[in-house]
Amino acid sequence: MGARQIYEALKDQIVSRVYATGGQLPSSRNLANELGVSRTTVTVAYEQLSAEGFIELRQGARPRIAALPFGPCLKGAKRQQQSTQRLSAYGERLRASPRWLDYLPSSVMIDFRYGDLAATDFPALAWRKAVNAVIAQRPGRLAYDDPRGSLRLRQALQGYLWRARTLRCELEQIIIVNGSQQGLDLCARLLLDPGSDFVMENPGYRMARQIFTSTGASPVPVAVDGEGLQTELLETVRARLAYVTPSHQFPLGGVMPISRRHRLLEWARENDAYVIEDDYDSEYRFDISPVPPLHSLEGGRNVIYLGTISKTLSPMMRIGYLVVPPELQEVCATAKQLFDRHSPVTEQEALASLIESGGYESHVRRVRRLNRDRRETLLTALQCAFGERITVEGADAGLHVVVWFNELARSSEARLLQIMQHAGIGVYCISPLYEPPPPKTTSDRLGLVMGYSALGLKQIERGVQLLQVAIETVKEEF
Ligand SMILES: Cc1ncc(COP(=O)(O)O)c(C=O)c1O
Repeated sequence: MGARQIYEALKDQIVSRVYATGGQLPSSRNLANELGVSRTTVTVAYEQLSAEGFIELRQGARPRIAALPFGPCLKGAKRQQQSTQRLSAYGERLRASPRWLDYLPSSVMIDFRYGDLAATDFPALAWRKAVNAVIAQRPGRLAYDDPRGSLRLRQALQGYLWRARTLRCELEQIIIVNGSQQGLDLCARLLLDPGSDFVMENPGYRMARQIFTSTGASPVPVAVDGEGLQTELLETVRARLAYVTPSHQFPLGGVMPISRRHRLLEWARENDAYVIEDDYDSEYRFDISPVPPLHSLEGGRNVIYLGTISKTLSPMMRIGYLVVPPELQEVCATAKQLFDRHSPVTEQEALASLIESGGYESHVRRVRRLNRDRRETLLTALQCAFGERITVEGADAGLHVVVWFNELARSSEARLLQIMQHAGIGVYCISPLYEPPPPKTTSDRLGLVMGYSALGLKQIERGVQLLQVAIETVKEEF
């Protein structure tokens, strides 16, 4: 590699903002060692970059990235978009699918985005202790672990699931995954083929819909009401898989009654299909008594239970778990091993220790109390601001509510979001979660999915006040 190539590569990266202004490049000695070239070669490249104003060279210090007078160059991104190179059928499906950008850091002041938790709710001390204890107990040899997950965590979860959800299973049925999302991916790959059909709640969790369609399978949308999936509509449906959120339907919040649960399992048996029971936020029940999971009915046949700690500890940890029927145990372990060998062991064992000590359950009780307060504050603020002009759904459980504005049509969504964005408040419409959209005759009201678990009580009140102002403005304009 010559000085010219090093210069070109670094210039390209600087222009594309790979390095922040003020960031440092390696010393010429270190870069020369890394690249296996002479120090003079690197020095020539650095001097050229400095002469053109891309970096600042200082005696005895590493080169520093200069402030550039222009914005980020999207050369790389454009090149990628224009590429005509064919990907696999899977890759092409992903290329054609919508890109979700909801992981981007929020720039709004008060964000009602669903799925985030307050950092202050995290049990930092207990977690640090648990991690330190695990590190202290490290065995002499660092080796790959069981793809199904750490034995200690699976044992801890086996007990927890029985205590918290009356779910009984064998250790071998539990597979630790990197969040529900990897569990869904694993199920999608094992159970769906291009052309297969899967039942999807409508409205529903779009990350699930997208992962299933990425296999080439087709969704069969089945409508949802206040009691979850309308199982009577399954009569004529033939599919390999049904994805449901029976404990707290996402996003409408209905709890599926026992009669529908039995009907769903009957449908699965008749169709030789599996039901994925996504129990993502069942720790949060406020005004309702617990309903046993589908998995506890009829011996859990045909049911794949999916749990996560994203709503109790943190979505950033990426720990979830599947409880699979015995006939899927081996193939799921093989799939998990091929994905990533296994999930990171330290975090798994720290979670196990937290569950064993009772710390996890006391944390859950604490965050349930905190979120109950947030929910009360939100419901009271909404009631004061809008009274009869709104209908709130799904507030009995979970960490979000759906708010329907009875006098506002869906067509005013874009304007409302614009005003709210301007006021520094993040709110999210329910409409993208419908696929296909509901017929206008059924529901043309504007609906918001409002998550509250990352907000303080004052922020919730302030956010609703600003929402009230925005709604008044939109009403006048439309
Ligand atoms: C319906 C549903 N399932 C699962 C999850 C959690 O996903 P994960 O465990 O991948 O963080 C969410 C998160 O918002 C969700 O809405």
